[in-house]
Amino acid sequence: MREKAAVAVLGAGQMGSGIGQVFATAGYRVKIYDLAEQIFEKSRNRIHASLEKLESKGVICEKAARIEERVSYHAKIDELRDCNIFVESAFEDFSIKTSIFCALSNILTESSYVATNTSSYSITALASFVPWPEKFIGFHFMNPPPIIELLEIIRGSLTGDETFDFFWQLAKELKKTPIVSKNSPGFVLNRILIPMINEAIYALQEDVSSAEHIDAALTIGAHHPLGPLALADLIGLDTVLAILKTLQKNLGEGKYAPCPLLENYVARGLLGKKTKRGFYEYQ
Ligand SMILES: NC(=O)c1ccc[n+]([C@@H]2O[C@H](COP(=O)([O-])OP(=O)(O)OC[C@H]3O[C@@H](n4cnc5c(N)ncnc54)[C@H](O)[C@@H]3O)[C@@H](O)[C@H]2O)c1
Repeated sequence: MREKAAVAVLGAGQMGSGIGQVFATAGYRVKIYDLAEQIFEKSRNRIHASLEKLESKGVICEKAARIEERVSYHAKIDELRDCNIFVESAFEDFSIKTSIFCALSNILTESSYVATNTSSYSITALASFVPWPEKFIGFHFMNPPPIIELLEIIRGSLTGDETFDFFWQLAKELKKTPIVSKNSPGFVLNRILIPMINEAIYALQEDVSSAEHIDAALTIGAHHPLGPLALADLIGLDTVLAILKTLQKNLGEGKYAPCPLLENYVARGLLGKKTKRGFYEYQ
């Protein structure tokens, strides 16, 4: 496969690693940026395990090792200078995201495209932290990015038509199915999904049923591939809480109020799969 331009992914967590993998699989050279070496190790292992699995199933047509060679890790923003596309995927925390965009602004040029994988924040608000807001967009992958085809594309008020067209084509090149959402809190998917998860946590808190049976109600009863509590563990309970708070702040106090049990889990550092304990326990 012919090597393409360099893409920077900012944040090497579960989503950033997966997004990096998607770009590398499509032939891009990928530079993943985060804060510390132990994070890089985890990300490397995550990408390696996922690519091996996809290779053994015949889903990818190139050798996993060859794809992995296109991914490098960086703890200095300056090392991302040669990238043309930047995808931010750090914690769902507004001030962390804006601090990254401020730092990034020193190396961006007029031709750089900047996207955020935020689950809920205003694209217009985030775009105000980069020098060329017309080149800024919401490019919202689903978890896990190498598997789920949907990609939400969200324009900020200043996003240019050329930028929108560029990302729409890019989504297709990455073999995703793009949909458009207005710049509204939670966009389309999380506006619907996260209140359902919150309701499931209320049902658990009020002892309506056990975690297993609440999930079975949705998997067996409504043919969802994953129950809402297992899905919350997969997303990360800190991320679920952050999204709910954005929905609550922007759309209405009562309807989106995070369940106290969710706040309790997050306060205790039980964040789901990524900390090996949430509503369920993981190896
Ligand atoms: N988890 C999901 O299911 C999901 C789905 C779609 C979108 N998202 C969004 O993707 C983003 C990342 O979520 P995640 O699940 O990968 O979280 P995560 O907790 O797995 O990873 C977040 C990463 O951000 C890094 N980070 C924190 N501060 C940073 C900084 N200043 N500079 C660079 N990196 C920094 C952390 O070290 C960590 O590696 C969030 O905006 C989230 O809302 C998540």
